[in-house]
Amino acid sequence: MAQQTQEETFKKIVAHCKEYGFVFPSSEIYDGLGAVYDYGQNGVELKNNIKRYWWDSMTLLHENIVGIDAAIFMHPTTWKASGHVDAFNDPLIDNRDSKKRYRADVLIEDQIAKYDEKIEKEIAKARKRFGDSFDEEMFVETNERVKELKNKREALHARFAKAMNDNNLDELKQIILDEEIVCPISGTRNWTDVRQFNLMFSTEMGSTADGAMKIYLRPETAQGIFVNFLNVQKTGRMKIPFGIAQIGKAFRNEIVARQFIFRMREFEQMEMQFFVRPGEELKWFEHWKQFRLKWHKALGLGDEKYRFHDHDKLAHYANAATDIEFLMPFGFKEVEGIHSRTNFDLSSHAKYSGKKIEYFDPELNQSYTPFVIETSIGVDRMFLSVMCSAYEEQALAPNGQIDKEGSAGNAGDTRVVLHLPPVLAPVKACIMPLVKKDGLPEKAREIMNELKFDFKVAYDEKDSIGKRYRRQDAVGTPFCITVDHDTEKDGCVTVRYRDTMLQDRVRIEELHEIIRKATDPKELYRKIVGDSLEDSEE
Ligand code: GAP
Repeated sequence: MAQQTQEETFKKIVAHCKEYGFVFPSSEIYDGLGAVYDYGQNGVELKNNIKRYWWDSMTLLHENIVGIDAAIFMHPTTWKASGHVDAFNDPLIDNRDSKKRYRADVLIEDQIAKYDEKIEKEIAKARKRFGDSFDEEMFVETNERVKELKNKREALHARFAKAMNDNNLDELKQIILDEEIVCPISGTRNWTDVRQFNLMFSTEMGSTADGAMKIYLRPETAQGIFVNFLNVQKTGRMKIPFGIAQIGKAFRNEIVARQFIFRMREFEQMEMQFFVRPGEELKWFEHWKQFRLKWHKALGLGDEKYRFHDHDKLAHYANAATDIEFLMPFGFKEVEGIHSRTNFDLSSHAKYSGKKIEYFDPELNQSYTPFVIETSIGVDRMFLSVMCSAYEEQALAPNGQIDKEGSAGNAGDTRVVLHLPPVLAPVKACIMPLVKKDGLPEKAREIMNELKFDFKVAYDEKDSIGKRYRRQDAVGTPFCITVDHDTEKDGCVTVRYRDTMLQDRVRIEELHEIIRKATDPKELYRKIVGDSLEDSEE
């Protein structure tokens, strides 16, 4: 098969999402709405499975984590207290020639990534040249070109981090000029000054005649948890350490909205705030970093696709923060943030509301404002990372099986397959009668009617069996179950596996256990928990 660039692959994934009912542009008949998307019939199943996997990993695996579902609208003072009214800004810059607007920090981050790419290229070239005797560490330390690139990269990185921490907009612009960063559209360096732009959407509640109140669409779900801290702690008789989990919509007026559902204006978050004793927060920060990474890795998308990225610029509320990044076709990108938020939010809500928001710790016999570790993951970004790693255009040998040796060249056929983790797959199995007669459809429906109480299953009798298999491959269905003329006699069906394309003859009574074993999240929870559960209940 001809090699394609990552950009081409990504375009195909976006097209695939639309063609197979995963993601549609919002209000598409009116040409869509920028950075807003709808999930289709398969997308919503996949999304719900992601949410279920997250929710249960929090609320089932931890007896000290409970969930809530807070409203999107909140009292406007919430956002004053949280700091979002004053500080939830992006530094923006316009190119005067293309009239395009960019985030200044993103332009500089992309420039840093370019240095990284150049260094990687030098290393790859040398590895090819020296073969087995290549010593990468020594090469990086001694090669003049790599040393120069590394120095430039480190200097830029340090300058950028300082400018962001100091909120120095003039310096951000100067970096862009000094690095000779050009607008990707016009190719020029005709930049405006950098200025701050608040990302919150606002609307009005109540009629204008009565004096309407300006309220915000929440830019994070976390504040719904903070303002309910006392409600949950008291009614649930929760003892520190404990957590509150929530899944819900969040809204941000993103200026640079790109890469499909990676950066949206309306999106969904899965957040958990874990309340701990002051002074113990960094221990818990480390604990949650490891737990969340295990949660990701248990899905089997490839351990090498994850990395931590510590923040250079800490948000106004944090004393430690890291991202879990995933290798997308457009590079390593943030999927989840883990933040040690100190006691900033609870203290600030106490100040603005005039209410005492504290916890009496019976073991210490004292009251304090708890510190908070937050794990915050975007459902849509998680969806995108799953899709990107699942999508494959696979070469097939002339016998229709996977072309492992690559011997078919362009002569063989190809199939598009989504290797979705079976736990997340929208449809777990498709039941198919070999032909549309001889009682086979009735038998197939009988099997389906039995399985449908426990699993999302589909039925398909249209077209050749090969075409039906391909349709299921394209939406990531792990099992195809075919009823044929022998089924009535031997009580068996053919199970065809999505990833290997191999087939087994199995007894009908075994189907339930085969599907359960592959799709039951419990199997993953066991992998995640290992011996770490005991720690979390300390
Ligand atoms: N409460 C903390 C918080 O909101 P964040 O790093 O701004 O932290 C957390 O967001 C996660 O929400 C991100 O890691 C990302 O997965 C998701 N997210 C943030 N902005 C997003 C956007 N515009 N579109 C899609 N997902 C987004």
